[in-house]
Order: sequence, then structure tokens, then C-alpha cells
Amino acid sequence: MKMTVFGAGYLGATHAACMAELGHEVLGVDTNRGKLAKLEAGDVPFYEPGLPEVLRRNIDQGRLNFTDSYAEAAAWAKTHFIAVGTPQKKGEFGADLSYIDAVIDELVPLLTDDAVLFGKSTVPVGTAARLTTRVSQLARDVDVEVSWNPEFLREGYAVADTLHPDRLVLGTRPGGRAEQVAREIYASLIVDGVPLLVTDLATAELVKVSANAFLATKISFINAVAEVCEAAGADIAALSDAIGRDPRIGRQFLNAGIGFGGGCLPKDIRAFMARAGELGADQALTLLREVDGINMRRRTRMVEIVRAASGTLIGSRIAVLGAAFKPGSDDVRDSPALNVAGQLQLNGAAVTVYDPHAMDNSRRLFPTLDYSTSAMEACEGADSVLVLTEWPEFVSLDPTSVSDVARGRNIIDGRYCLNRQDWESAGWTYHA
Ligand SMILES: NC(=O)c1ccc[n+]([C@@H]2O[C@H](COP(=O)([O-])OP(=O)(O)OC[C@H]3O[C@@H](n4cnc5c(N)ncnc54)[C@H](O)[C@@H]3O)[C@@H](O)[C@H]2O)c1
Repeated sequence: MKMTVFGAGYLGATHAACMAELGHEVLGVDTNRGKLAKLEAGDVPFYEPGLPEVLRRNIDQGRLNFTDSYAEAAAWAKTHFIAVGTPQKKGEFGADLSYIDAVIDELVPLLTDDAVLFGKSTVPVGTAARLTTRVSQLARDVDVEVSWNPEFLREGYAVADTLHPDRLVLGTRPGGRAEQVAREIYASLIVDGVPLLVTDLATAELVKVSANAFLATKISFINAVAEVCEAAGADIAALSDAIGRDPRIGRQFLNAGIGFGGGCLPKDIRAFMARAGELGADQALTLLREVDGINMRRRTRMVEIVRAASGTLIGSRIAVLGAAFKPGSDDVRDSPALNVAGQLQLNGAAVTVYDPHAMDNSRRLFPTLDYSTSAMEACEGADSVLVLTEWPEFVSLDPTSVSDVARGRNIIDGRYCLNRQDWESAGWTYHA
């Protein structure tokens, strides 16, 4: 099937390449010429394991192209995915929907055939209904249907999650064509047993934000328990393993540490609270205010732990290993690691950061921090070494080699990912 994907970021570029991989003819559309030039040349402008191969294969086989021309996109297909950003509004909790509105406003008047729009971006409940009205005002003698097909991919596993999702969710209006079109698009996945869950528009929008709110709650829950463990002298890692054995609880997302970040969970729980408030259901989500508060408190707590370990932050030399919000990604949006690095620097420490894949993005966001070209270089002369993103190369660092270059002997594990015994045997004082 011919289709377009508007927005060629983490979500859109992955979706475009993976839809081509399923055999469709895909045109990716973005307003960022620099990004498009890279994609057209077969380069993924961000780090996502496995995506470059899928992108290049499908460009070479002629199933995947990119453009910044809405006219070309409108003429290309009757099926259009919308995968542009929905960031947090500046100074407010709500989501900024201006990028989605811009796609609708520019695309719909250009459509000369009936079409189905599939929203993939994460949006506040009620957005698809509002866009349906907007579309009907803009469409010129054609029937343009708005449906919502939220995305659950995880950065770092984006290709596998798109080609083998655990479920597909589709919000449609009764009697529309979207379900039939979606069944055609995802036919090979459905044959493989992936369930297609069809709901109304509002439910589909809420499925996505509720899923993210639940995951954020799980992380903040274990971090709240970690605060109690710290006060009581108990071991949060052993506790997580023990409660995670209960299938009703599950072990995933129970790793205590410096908390969640990235381009999704923080802004999605805030947008959820804001929307609930607009709907008069704000009390239902005061819980998420606490989830957000616990999460942000972890970052400050990490700074306190470093201060206590170092004696003072002023003049202290600190190596920060990790900048991405999680391993497997170069995404530094609302990264806990960079937030902690920035706070330490503001408190007078000399901070050197290293990340295997997120250096360019980090430099752009935090140009005042110092950056190294390797983990060992970052550790040179350091009084304290912090592991804030659990990249495998940091988990497997050899404590003795770090001893050879560091000045102090404080290892601070922000992700409970290091082998405490190994570090202690090499003469380090372990903090977490
Ligand atoms: N990143 C993820 O892991 C993930 C997972 C699931 C859902 N989502 C959701 O997907 C959406 C996109 O997230 P992302 O991480 O890909 O963001 P992103 O910032 O990486 O990408 C957004 C892209 O949209 C482009 N864009 C902006 N305005 C445009 C316009 N008018 N026309 C065409 N392109 C335009 C930007 O240039 C950019 O390339 C968000 O709603 C997010 O919450 C993201």
C-alpha cells in the first residue's frame, strides 16, 4: 500500500522504514531539510540499533523515499500517518499540539481523494475528535477520516517493537474505513498473531497515556520504597527481586535509581494531568503529581549523595558516565544523567561527561559541561565516578583500570547496575 509518514524523528523515521520493510511504498515527510538529507543518504540522524540496515535496504529497493513537499505527499497516497512531536508546552503541563495542527492545516486542503489519517503521536484525549472537526472544515469535496493508532515502541528496541508489537491499538469512528485500511497495512503482523484492538477514538488516545503513566508510577513506586530502604538500612535491589517474582507485580520497571526521563514519560504524565484537569477529573490524577515529584527528587538526592561522598562539591572533579536518558538511545531529552551533571556543575564541581552515543546531543543541550572521548578519559583525575546511564560498557568497567587513572575512590551507582563487590575489592567506596 502507498502511504506517507509525517514527522521523521525517533517515531516517524522508524515507522516509515518499518512500513517499507513490511512491503509498503512509503514517503517520509519532514520540515527539517538537514534530517531529510541524512535519511535520503541512508543515515539515521539518531542512534537506534538495527534501524540503519532497515532504512538502507528499503531505500535501495525503492520502497522508501523522503520529501519536505506536502503537495508531493498529498498526491502520493490516500493513507497518511502523523508522527510529529507533541512536546510539553513551555511553562505549562499541557501538550503542545501545534505541530499536529500544522500537518492537518497544510495537508488536508491539498487532498484530492478520500483519505484516512492515522495519528501515531501521543496526544491528550479528545484531540482526534477535535481534529475530525478541523479536517471536515478544511477538506475540499473529499472524505478524510481521522483515526488514532498510538505507538508503544521503546527507543533502543524500536525496530523489533514496530515489526513485532505486543498489540496494535486503533481508535476509529463507527462506520469508518480506518479499520479495514489498518487491517491491510498490518496484515502480516495480524497473521503472525498480533492482536488489533479496535476502540473508539478517546479510548485509543487514553490507552497510550495510561500505559506511560503506569510505567512512570511503577518506577516512582520503587524509588519511593528505595527512600524508605535507605532510611531503614534495607537493600532495595534485593527487595525488587523478591517482589518482582510475584507475577501480579513483575520485575520489569522495578529498578531503583535516578528515575525516568526522555521525550515521553515526563511530558506524557504532565499532559495527562493537565487534560484530566480540563475535563474536571483532576483529582483522579493527583497521584501522578506525586509520581513526578518522587522522580525529580531522585535527581536532587543523587547530588546530595555525591556531595556527602566527596566532602564538598566545590573544586571536586567528577566523572559522569552516561548522558542518554537510558542505554540503547542517544536521546537526552529530560535526561536524569545530564540533569544531575548540570546540578553538580552549578554546585561548583568540575564535571566531565562521557556517553558512547549521546555526545553530540549532550553538547547541544549542555554546552557548558566538559566532555571526554572515552570513559577512561572522563575518569582521569576524578575524585568521584558516577554511573548514571547503565550502558553495558559502564556495567563491565574494570575497577582496577579505573583506579589507575582516577584520583579518588568513590564510585556512585545511579542505576544499581554495578557489581558492588568488584568495586569494593578494588578499594573503592561504593554508594548508591
Ligand atoms: N520517541 C519514542 O520512543 C516515542 C514512542 C512512542 C510515541 N512517541 C510519540 O511520538 C511523537 C513523536 O516523537 P519523537 O520522539 O519521534 O519526536 P521527534 O522530535 O524525534 O520527531 C518529530 C519530528 O517531526 C518533525 N516535524 C515537526 N513539525 C512538522 C511538520 N509540520 N511536518 C512534518 N514534520 C514535522 C520534526 O522535524 C521532527 O523530525 C510524540 O508524540 C511522542 O510522544 C514517541
